Parts: sequence; structure tokens; C-alpha cells
Amino acid sequence: MSSSVSIGNNNGVAVVTIDNPPVNALSFHVRELLMQALVSLRDEPSVAAIAITCAGRTFVAGADITEFGKPVRQPDLRALVAMLETIAKPTVAAIHGTALGGGLELALGCHFRVADTGAKLGLPEVKLGLLPGGGGTVRLPRLVGPLKALSMIVSGTPIVAAEALADGLVDAVFDGDLIAQAVSIAADMVAKGGPFTPVRDRNDRLDQANLPAFDKQAAALSKKARGLEAPIACAQSVRNALTLPFDEALAAERDLFVKLVAGDQSRAQRHLFFAERQAAKIAGKDVVRRKIARVGVIGAGTMGGGIAMAFANGGLPVTLLETTQEALQRGLTTIDKNYAVSAMRGSLSEDAKRQRLALFKGSTDYADLTDCDLIVEAVFEEMAVKKEVFGRLDAVAKPGAILATNTSYLDVNEIAASTSRPQDLLGMHFFSPANVMKLLEIVRADKTSPDVLATIADLARRIGKVPVVVGVCHGFVGNRMLAARGSELEPLLLEGATPRQVDQAFTDFGWPMGPFQMVDLAGLDIGWRNRKARGQTADIADTLCEQGHFGQKTGSGFYRYEDSSRTPLLNPEVEALIRDKAAGNGIAPRTIGTKEIIERTLYPMINEGAKILEEGIAARASDIDVVWVNGYGFPVGKGGPMFWASLEGVDKIIRRLDHWHQQTGKDVFRVAPLLRQMAETGSWDGAAG
Ligand code: 3HC
Ligand code: NAI
Repeated sequence: MSSSVSIGNNNGVAVVTIDNPPVNALSFHVRELLMQALVSLRDEPSVAAIAITCAGRTFVAGADITEFGKPVRQPDLRALVAMLETIAKPTVAAIHGTALGGGLELALGCHFRVADTGAKLGLPEVKLGLLPGGGGTVRLPRLVGPLKALSMIVSGTPIVAAEALADGLVDAVFDGDLIAQAVSIAADMVAKGGPFTPVRDRNDRLDQANLPAFDKQAAALSKKARGLEAPIACAQSVRNALTLPFDEALAAERDLFVKLVAGDQSRAQRHLFFAERQAAKIAGKDVVRRKIARVGVIGAGTMGGGIAMAFANGGLPVTLLETTQEALQRGLTTIDKNYAVSAMRGSLSEDAKRQRLALFKGSTDYADLTDCDLIVEAVFEEMAVKKEVFGRLDAVAKPGAILATNTSYLDVNEIAASTSRPQDLLGMHFFSPANVMKLLEIVRADKTSPDVLATIADLARRIGKVPVVVGVCHGFVGNRMLAARGSELEPLLLEGATPRQVDQAFTDFGWPMGPFQMVDLAGLDIGWRNRKARGQTADIADTLCEQGHFGQKTGSGFYRYEDSSRTPLLNPEVEALIRDKAAGNGIAPRTIGTKEIIERTLYPMINEGAKILEEGIAARASDIDVVWVNGYGFPVGKGGPMFWASLEGVDKIIRRLDHWHQQTGKDVFRVAPLLRQMAETGSWDGAAG
């Protein structure tokens, strides 16, 4: 038998081992061999019990995602689990690492499950725009109850072994030799004698009286779905487990799965799954990474504090440096408060809070940075200040230390040139709040050495960030495209749209918030300062700033905010200001529809993305999608701007851009040659990078 499924025998207990690196996904060849193995063991008189286990770092982490969208080859997972449930001999799944998706569904086909203390178990299909399609929605509620199953399946978040034990998902948790333990349990069961009840026949936790509570929780979760179909389908399918006979509920699960897997949303989310992993592959495994054991962060303001927390959350000790003791104390107090809030909300234990706080060391003396392997600068966005900081770092940082700037817009090559070690310098562009937002734009300067890029990409994943390498230009990938997205916002207002209407169009599209709400949250003054520095103006936003309306922090911006609440209220003064400005520009207001709002904001942004690819600022269109989904909340179900362009129709986008370009002559509408090429070939390849 091939090595991807092998059988051992331990005193009458057959041990079936799946070995399909890297994550033991249930690819066709594994399913086929596993089916053969199980059939032979079922019929083999010398085998009294069966344990299923995995080689390598994990139990089966799911179906093979690369097979989705292709014709299904039998046996599929459902057939495999159904067959497993016909075995009268005791069957035990021995789980280490992550039993996810189809992996957990396979384990649910066994009579018993035992897990290693470090194991995690979950059904994350929802994150791929799917529902568990191998019986997970129908079997899991039978073990853990419908409410727990609902929360696990709709969130997709795995639970740890101890929780799984408490909830009844696993029967025992062990440290040490898991297979030996699984074999021992199987032997005990043989000694005890059957019959053993398959999960499909365990109905004691399916109490119909739970239905009202279930519906209440399902309705609350559905509200958060923001246009995504999968969470709703997940909830429906778990409900079916509660209300329908097993086989009917299973068939309904299958129908929902087939529909979702063929849909655009799941295609988009699967695209993102692979795009994120592709983006993180920055250099070959043979490039020797530098060791990062301690990090320095300069500046304890909004970003520096968040960045320091991001490293501490990843277990790294951090030296935080400020100009004065007072500024340092302010920064450390904010960090303290943030952790206290997490502890209060229950997302961080008191113990973990103490451990994290113990990782911080504050200083006002650059000499304290000499033991740092990486130093990230997050001081004011001014070239002179940055150069001064890097000049001092050059003098104190140890040889081989990596130096990084968190600049949003400044020229990283110029910063690098101001040091004697440009090969060690790069941009690490975190997003606010840096301890929460997952995106990290890694800015590759002309002289950044490949091992520095590779080290930072690995480090990013280590601290739970999603890294994307970008080149040097004003705003890199994200903020440069954000500017293109915003270029038509003021014209839309002047022509008759309202801030609320624009924001509504965005949230209907699936964004977490619209652009005017976003600017009110971030502060209008940031863009104002930036525009002034570049000699640019924005009629409406500049006037609001001149009148002191900076957004939430001043109680008014594009919206009004009462009693320091974050709820945006209509601001009649802004509406009047817009109409005044329109009249002053001789523009008669007209009705503007949602479609026009989306097209005039998102099409220029996609066009800018194509220009970014042409210039080699991003290496792949999928990298741009990763930036936008993880840094700016582009709806996952649409796969990022470049993926969505194909769904929307690149021909149509070009026609609209050409039309607006003819009408206005604006550069944002000048169609990128790569966009035209994409329309002809269906591929973004051919970009400069
Ligand atoms: N199918 C195919 N390839 C997979 C895979 C899967 N289910 N899971 C991971 N891989 C691949 C990755 O693409 C990556 O390939 P690469 O090296 O060529 O880029 C490689 O395995 C390693 O993956 P990671 O880099 O993500 O490794 P980590 O160690 O960081 O994480 C993991 C491991 C937690 C298992 C993570 O890979 C993961 O979350 N995988 C997906 C789990 C999942 O979604 N399972 C459900 C699948 S859908 C399903 O089962 C449907 C069923 O209900 C019918
Ligand atoms: P901030 O004003 O909140 O913090 C800057 C901090 O740097 C202040 O605490 C200041 O005392 C300190 N500082 C100034 N000069 C210093 C020096 N020479 N040595 C040590 N500390 C010094 O600014 P913020 O928002 O944190 O921005 C910092 C950097 O991060 C900027 O380059 C900005 O463009 C960038 N950035 C900001 C984002 C945001 O949303 N605020 C997002 C991404 C990047």
C-alpha cells in the first residue's frame, strides 16, 4: 500500500496512519486508499478495533481545497464517513495538531475521539465561503449540542482540546504517546463489548426545546454576516440537524454545500486563502534568516504603542523609546489600559496580561537599543525627523540589526540612503490599530537585502500578521489605491450625493464602513496636513478643517457626534456647505444612484492597482487583494479589488473609465495598459514585477 495511508497492528487494534504532507488534507488519493483500508479492516476477523491517526505535524486539516470547483472524484468525504459509521468494531480518531473541516468530520465518523493536549478542533469552512460538507453540521450538534455547534460552525474558530473535552467533542485528552493511548482505549472498548453507537444515532443533545434560543442566536449571528451567504447557510444547516431526521438534514447540507462551492463568494474566499500564503513566500527556504529575539520601537504614540503590543502579543520582548519620560509614560499607560480592557472583556487572562506587560522595557536613551535585533521607527511623519532618528540608530544598533520605518508615505530609499547600512533597512508599514489589524506592508527599498525581507516576512507570520511585499512609491500599495478610491468622493457630493448615501452604498457593498465615516474616525486633519504638504486641496474637507471640524475627535466632521458617542448623525451644516460649494461651482445637483457611487470610487482604484502592477510596486494582483482585505476591510466575499474586477467585468470597467477620461481628462481615469491587457487575455501577468 502507498505510504499516504498505511496500516499497523497493535494486538488486534489496527492503526491506520494518513501521511499526506504538509497538512494531511483529504486529497482524492488519500480518500481512495483510506476507503480501501477501512473496508479491508472492517472485514478482517483478526482486527478487533481501528484507530485513525496522522503522521507529521497535524491530524487531517481538511478537505483538499485545491480540488474544489473541479469534478468530485469518488469516494468523496461523505461516502468515507458513511462507510466508517457502518463499522461495528470500535473506531477511535487520535487527534494531534489541528483537526479541521473534513478532518474533524472524519473524526466525527468514529465512535470515539482522543486528543493531544495541544490539539485544536474546528470547522473553519465558513472562512472559505462554505459550510462543512462532510456531515459536520449534522453530527457536531449531536455531540456538543446545537448552540455550541452553531457558534463553532458560524465563527469557524477552532477550540482547544480541553474545551473539546468539556463539551463532549472528544472523549479523552492526553499528554505523551497519543497513539498508544488511542490503542489502549480501543482495546478497553473491545473488552467492554459493543454495540457502539455511531454519532449519527446519538440524539440525546438534540432537544427541540432549544429551538427558540437557537433561533435567537442564529438571528444575531446572521445580522453580522454582512452579505455573506455561508454563515447563513451554516446556521440553517445546524438548525436542520435539530429539526429534520439525520438523512434529510445530511442531504440538505449537501445541497447547500454544492451551491456555495460553485458560487462567487466561496471562489473569492478560496482565492484569498491561497493569495495570503503566496504573498508570504518571500524568499526560498535556503535564504538564511536573521535571529530576532528582541525588538526596539521608537515613538510610543498611536502607532508605536500598537506596534510594540503586536510584538509583545507574539511573545517578543520590546524596548520602547521616547524623547521624554513624560511621553514614554503616556505611551506605556495607554498600553496598560489596552491590556486591561482586553482582560476586562475576557479575551485575555490576568496571567497572560501580566506576562505581556513584563515584556516591555521603556527608555529615553538610544544606548538601550544596542541589544535589539530589529528596531522599528514610528515617530512623526517628517523626513528630517526620520533621518535624525536613523542617524542615531546607525551609531548604536548592533551590526546586522534590521532597521525599519513605519512611514505611511515617505521615500524609504531616501531614509535608507541616510544610513551607512541601507541593506539592513526596509519599511514595515503597520495599520492602525497595529495590535489588531493583520496587514503588514513590507516595503522593499532598492538596497534591502533578501534575507532582511525573508526574516521580516517570517516574523510577521510569527506575530499573526499577514505580510505583503511592496515597492517604494507615495503611499505604497494600500494608501496609493485609497487615494484613487477617494478621488471622486468630493465630486460625487458636489453633484448631489450625500455623505450618508455614499457610506450606505459602501456598507451595502460589504465594507465595514463608508469613506466618510472612516475619515471622521481617523481625523480629517490627517488628510488636510497631507494635502497641504503636497500642494493639493479638497474643497469640502478643507473648509471643514478650517472651521475646526476634524471628525469624531471634535464632535463633528462629515457627521455630528453627540456626547462623545461614535454614532454618526446627520449634519445639516455639512449638507448646506455641500450645496453652497456646488452652487459656487455652478453644479446643479442631480440624483446619484448606488451603482454610480460604487463605479466612480472602485473603478479608479482597480485602475491604480493595474498601474501599481505595471510599475512592479506589487508583484502579483493577488498581493493587492491581500492588502485590501486585511488592511482596509474590502469584503472577503468579493475577493479583493483585483479579483472583483473580473467578477464585475474588466471590459465594462474600461468603457466607464474611458468615458470619464474623455469627459474630464483626469489622470485617475487614464486606463492602465495592463488593464486593457487583462481584458484581452484574462490575466494580470505581464506586469513589470
Ligand atoms: N487543502 C489544500 N492545501 C492546504 C490545506 C487544505 N485544506 N490546508 C493547508 N494547505 C496548504 C497551504 O496552502 C500551504 O501550501 P503551500 O506551502 O504550498 O503554500 C501548506 O498547506 C501549509 O499551510 P499553511 O502555510 O497555512 O500552514 P500553517 O502551519 O500556518 O497552518 C493550518 C496550518 C492551520 C492547517 C492552515 O493551513 C489552515 O488553516 N488550513 C485550512 C484549514 C481549512 O480550512 N480546512 C477546511 C477545508 S474545507 C473542508 O474541509 C470542506 C469539507 O467540509 C468538505
Ligand atoms: P503620533 O504622533 O501618535 O506618535 C509619534 C510619537 O513619536 C510621539 O509620541 C512622539 O513623542 C514620538 N517621537 C517624535 N520624535 C521622536 C524621536 N526623535 N525619538 C523618539 N520618539 C519620537 O504619530 P503616529 O500616528 O503614531 O504616526 C507615527 C508614524 O506612523 C508616522 O510615520 C505615520 O505616518 C505612521 N503611520 C501612522 C498611521 C496612523 O493611522 N496613525 C498608520 C500607519 C503609519
